[in-house]
Amino acid sequence: MRADPSGPALPQIQEAAQRYSENARHKLAGLINEGGPHGLPFARWMHTALYDPQTGYYAGAPLKFGDTTAAAGSALQGDFVTAPELTPWFGRSLARQVSPILAHLGTPHILEFGAGSGALAEHLLQALLPDFPELRYYILDISPDLTQRQQQRLAPFGDSVQWLRSLPSGFTGCVIANEVLDAMPVSLFEWGQDEQIYELHVVNKQPQRTPAPTAQTAPDNQSSPHFDFVRVPANAVLDRAVRARMPALPGYRSEINLQGESWVTGMGQWLKQGVALLIDYGFPGHEYYHPQRSQGTLMCHLLHHAHSQVLLFPGIQDITAHVDFTAMADAALAGGLDVLGYTSQARFLLNCDLLQILTSLDPEDTVRYAREIGPVQKLLSEAEMGELFKVLAIGKNADMDLVGFATGDRRHRL
Ligand SMILES: C[S@@+](CC[C@H](N)C(=O)[O-])C[C@H]1O[C@@H](n2cnc3c(N)ncnc32)[C@H](O)[C@@H]1O
Repeated sequence: MRADPSGPALPQIQEAAQRYSENARHKLAGLINEGGPHGLPFARWMHTALYDPQTGYYAGAPLKFGDTTAAAGSALQGDFVTAPELTPWFGRSLARQVSPILAHLGTPHILEFGAGSGALAEHLLQALLPDFPELRYYILDISPDLTQRQQQRLAPFGDSVQWLRSLPSGFTGCVIANEVLDAMPVSLFEWGQDEQIYELHVVNKQPQRTPAPTAQTAPDNQSSPHFDFVRVPANAVLDRAVRARMPALPGYRSEINLQGESWVTGMGQWLKQGVALLIDYGFPGHEYYHPQRSQGTLMCHLLHHAHSQVLLFPGIQDITAHVDFTAMADAALAGGLDVLGYTSQARFLLNCDLLQILTSLDPEDTVRYAREIGPVQKLLSEAEMGELFKVLAIGKNADMDLVGFATGDRRHRL
């Protein structure tokens, strides 16, 4: 789960992590030098910071996904926690939607993008295999390190799980992506006084003569590269995309997930028949580009600390942006897909009978009950993940009612 920024003081960073980040910075500085005087568009910088095979955040060995439910007194692990990491009840109730999709299609195939540690795959396989012994669970993740971890964790499921190296040429089944769109590189833009739209690029910062570490900036090796933003007039594609979404607001800075949109549009090519469930935090376009959200939603996560200094620790901090679900729905329509449902995560899970399946827990076993219910409350609570997270269902040739959207479908708000 991605919390609100909790103040400027950053956590203490271990020496090994500092070194990893230094390598990432050298890699990025080299790319910037090759890129010429305007440096790198932020999206390219973010892609390298997250996914470079040697120095990227998702390539690095340290644990990313944490466990806030760890026994009292033990340290939080990783940098952030996602719903499947929080509790298996997320996957168990998601299975209540996936199961009728597979039955309707008559093809027990699932394709999960960005499966992280493999937690959701494990919970879905456990829930679905009894009814679908022929289940084939495909995973496509751009992180080789996470793919390896998934292979270890899911080894007990044998041939039921298979990994893809690239998009399939054709697929029939259920597609799942939990917190994947928010991890795709975004373009940063800013409106100028002159109604011009600028793209933010990243350049190497000139070394300062008297750098003094402060409480806000954890001390690190000042000889390693640091970065700054510069504004460059937006190219025609970005310019058009921004103007289509919002009026000119001088000084307004935000981001746009063009890569995510083309990923969704592209699904129209390879999804022959099926339903995709895209789960993430975000809002419809009019809320995303609300005049008051004038600094966008870009956010970093480092050791469970949320902050907005995106250029500070490449390689060791997650970088993420909320999802504009209107843009994703439009992208689906542009790819020839149907928009089948849109609602909050809480409403979706309740529609999927989460409360009913929890009755299998014995309330007399108070210790276990409390341990299991706490994380479920996080999933459902409006103040935590219940309202900020949404589920968008898109699909093709799948004319069926989706139980997860039986009540509270908000497609009209997109
Ligand atoms: C924030 S993590 C979420 C992991 C997991 N789904 C969960 O909920 O715990 C983002 C995941 O998406 C993967 N990812 C990002 N972009 C991707 C893409 N274009 N295709 C496949 N995987 C991608 C990352 O490698 C990572 O596994």
